[in-house]
Parts: sequence; structure tokens; C-alpha cells
Amino acid sequence: MSSDIDELRRELDIVDVVSDYIHLERVGTNFRANCPFHPDRTPSFYVSPSRQIFKCFGCGVGGDAIKFVSLYENISYIEAAKQLARRYGIRLKIKDESGEKAKIHQILERVAEFYHSKLKENREALEYLKERGIEGITAKKFMLGFSPPTKELAEFLRKEGALEIYEKTGNITRLDESKFRDLFRNRLVIPIRDPRGRFVGFGGRLLGGEGPKYVNSPESEVFKKRELLFGLYEGLNYLRDLKSAVLVEGYFDVISLHQEGFRNAVATLGTSFGKEHAQILSRFVSRVYLLFDGDEAGRKAMRLATPHLLSAGIDVYPVFLPDGMDPHDFISREGKKALKALIENSSEVFQLLLERVKKGEKVEEAVRDFTYFASFMKDEIRSFALLSELSKLTKIPLDILSSKVYRRREEPPSGEEDRLSFTERVFLKGLFELRPEIDLDQLNLSHRARELAQMILREEYYDVPEDILNLRTTDIEAEFEGALERLRIDIPREELETAGLRESVREMIRSHKGGIKPSALRRWRGGA
Ligand code: CTP
Ligand code: MN
Repeated sequence: MSSDIDELRRELDIVDVVSDYIHLERVGTNFRANCPFHPDRTPSFYVSPSRQIFKCFGCGVGGDAIKFVSLYENISYIEAAKQLARRYGIRLKIKDESGEKAKIHQILERVAEFYHSKLKENREALEYLKERGIEGITAKKFMLGFSPPTKELAEFLRKEGALEIYEKTGNITRLDESKFRDLFRNRLVIPIRDPRGRFVGFGGRLLGGEGPKYVNSPESEVFKKRELLFGLYEGLNYLRDLKSAVLVEGYFDVISLHQEGFRNAVATLGTSFGKEHAQILSRFVSRVYLLFDGDEAGRKAMRLATPHLLSAGIDVYPVFLPDGMDPHDFISREGKKALKALIENSSEVFQLLLERVKKGEKVEEAVRDFTYFASFMKDEIRSFALLSELSKLTKIPLDILSSKVYRRREEPPSGEEDRLSFTERVFLKGLFELRPEIDLDQLNLSHRARELAQMILREEYYDVPEDILNLRTTDIEAEFEGALERLRIDIPREELETAGLRESVREMIRSHKGGIKPSALRRWRGGA
């Protein structure tokens, strides 16, 4: 099969293919354009006829002609290949392996309808929705359902002749010859669709009794949490029109926000927001409002999502809810107009940090966040302009600020970024074993290591690779100490003295008394 695709690739000319979609401008032997996959102010998208590839130096996407079409049309690689073969009259004999997947999508849809039809029959589920203020029309729009005892579902699937194939989704488990167990039994069921509207799986909320609050479909060929955003399909037209999305934390946040007219609300499926999520959003929007719960976890999630969004060329607008409130609480108490105002009056993240510096609120932290976030921006001119502004405001020399950013950028770009140094591995293992109080901002961590550290601190181990948690160590305390030494952010002394960075930071601290947290270094260096 792959040899067939290879042949197709040889027949295609990438310049022809791409020119069907966007206007290419010749530069020497290559071509360039404004990137169609992220908001691009300067042409950073290049096509190389000699290598038959495209590459965007802004957002990092790249690949061959087929990949371009698959991204642009939002279809799979295989489907893009088929489409191109048709378009150019090239014969392509690939086995229709999408047949089974298509069947799975169909049966998932039938199961969603089945659950939905059972909602009316279950008092507890209806009562629950009423309590949460979810109206019938909303329940219908999201096709919310209820999963009755498994026997009924198994019966339904048998009649459809789909029992065997449905087993492959992992949503039901065979117990013996004729008995099954539905992962979602007795739960309120929330169907999940991919950006193209295909049914891919479910989330199920506990209504009463024992068990985890939510269960989700297991990862599979059709259900890939890293690439799914709940509410995206339902709100796609709004996202496109508004060119913005409101990122929230949970299923019910999405459901109630849509109901109240915020139809561009989306959420991950309980996993942290990652690179793939950002890339998907960047196809539709140029701005994302982060509307996370007003608690510590919410604030952490915000810091975690921001770099991915910035890397994808999306402007980030954090929206702060009062302590302990989630979006739904806020609407119930203050009304939707107030929420709309809160969202509309929010500031873009770099402006927000500049404001903080101006007001003298947690200046040191704001400066560090600023350079940290700036290091993920792909538009260098913009990041330079922002750093100049920060430099003017703080009197920290621009070359110092940009050198900090520059150093981070030097890290392996996408694809390579999952590689961790040995020191980082030891550090993560120690974090997991020893659970020390630690301020990650004091450490020079790669983006990936930082993300993993945050997951460990939040006790979300499910996305942390096993080999880190199982790393063999002899004396973890000593090795952890050593790793911390090596990871500590230490600007070379000469640089400090010549440029007077420490002086200027001290200056800031002196001039904005209060609000600056003591160096967390002391905590783990045996100090106070
Ligand atoms: N989640 C999950 N598995 C869990 C807990 C949470 O997958 N055991 C995911 C769900 O997508 C959930 C989101 O994380 O919507 C947020 O979780 P949490 O804040 O605990 O739930 P709430 O949104 O507050 O849930 P609810 O409002 O239904 O109480
Ligand atoms: Mn919630």
C-alpha cells in the first residue's frame, strides 16, 4: 500500500498542488506564502520544488503535497491521497482500510442515539440535568443520554449485528460467552464527536453511587484524546465566525456555556491541553480565551496551555474567575452579561503581564513569565517588539531579556521536543518520589520536562511516560539534589555583573515593595 502512495507522491508536483489552494510567490528556487495554518503576518510558509516539501517557519508544520491537502481540507492522509489521485487522474489502488473505521463511527452514532432515547426513561438523569440547569433543547443538541443496564445495550447491538465490531472500541467488555459490561452503565452519557462530526466515543458522568466522577472511552484508533476537543464540532461555525474559542475545563462547562450563548466554548477530555489541541484550534481561530476555574488547579492549567497556544500562533487571553468559581457558578450568580463583559474586557497575556509590571504586582514573577511565554512565540518580530516594551518598562537591558528567550528557542523544535536530558529525567523521578515543595520557574527546564513536572505536581500520572516513573536510581535524594543544582537558572556571573541584571531586578523589588515572593531556591537549599 505504501509503495502505491510513494508512486502517487512521485507523480504529484507540490507547487501545483499547493497553488490550487494559496497564492505562491517565487523566491529564488523556492516559493513562499503567508502560512494558511496559522495567523501569519509575514510570509513564513515555504515550498521547495526540489525537495517536494512545504515547511512553515512560523508554526512549524511541514510535509509533502498529500500532507498539505490533508491539513488544509482537514481530512486524513489517506483520504487526501485518494482525493489527489482523483483530481490528477492517477490510479491509486489502496485497500479500503477506512471501511472498518467508518463502520465504527456509524455504530458509535447508533449507540449515541440509543443512549439518547433512554434519557427520557430515566428520572434520575433528567433530575440531574434539571438541577444543573441544562434545558431539554441543550440535551438534544449534545445528544446527552443515559446508559441503562448493559443487557439492553447488548441486545440493541446484537440486533444491529454490531456487537463484535463495537467491542473493538473498548466501550464494552466481554465477561463471558454472552455477558458484557458497558463502561458507561448507569451514567449520564456525553457523546464526543471529532471536528468532522463523526462520533468517536463517550464521556460518562456518575449520577450517584460509587466510582470515578467521569469515565471516558479508552484510547483507540478512533478515539484519540490528544486530538479531541469537546464542543468543537458543535460550535465550529461560531469558532470560525468569531475567530476565537473559549477554552474551559470540563464537559459541563462547555454544555452550559453553549446553552447560554457562548457557543465557541471547548474543553479537553480531562487531559491537559497539548500541542495537537493547539494546532487544531489554530485552523479555526486566532484568539483563545482561557476560562478556567478560579482555583489553583485552574491557574496552573492556564500556565500549561498558554505555551502550546502561543507556539501555534494563537493570541492568549486569560480570563480570571473569582476564587473557587467555575464558569457555570459565575453565570448563575452574576448572569451571562457579566461573563460576556469579563471575557470581552480580558487582556492579551503579554499586555496583562506588562500591566502587572506597571502596577508593581509580583514584578519578578511577571518578568519571568513574560520571557518564558515569549520564548514560545513564533513571530520573532512581535516577540522582539514585546521584549522592547518590557525592557523600557523595567530598565532591564533588552539584550539580556532577548538572550533568555533566545536560549530557550535554541531547544530542539517540534518532533524532537519530547527528548529529555538525563538530568531532567532524574529531576522528574525525584519530584515523583520525594514530592518536595518546588517552584518550577526557578529551573531551566525544557518545555516537555516542565509540562511533565506540572503533571506530576498535579498528580496526573497517566500522561507521564512509565520509563520516567520507573527510572532506576540508587540514592534518589542525592541524585535529585544534584539534578536541581544543574537545572537551577543561573545567569553566568560575568553577564550579571556587566549588565547589572541582578541590580535592576533588585531595583524593581525595592521600588515595588510587597508582592514579590521570596526566592524559592532557599526552600530546597536548606534555607528558611
Ligand atoms: N475528568 C475526567 N475524569 C475524572 C475527572 C474529570 O475525565 N475522573 C475530566 C472531565 O472531562 C471533566 C473535567 O475533567 O469534565 C473536569 O473535571 P472536574 O473539574 O473534576 O469536573 P467538573 O467539570 O467540575 O465536573 P462536574 O462539573 O460534572 O462536577
Ligand atoms: Mn466544573
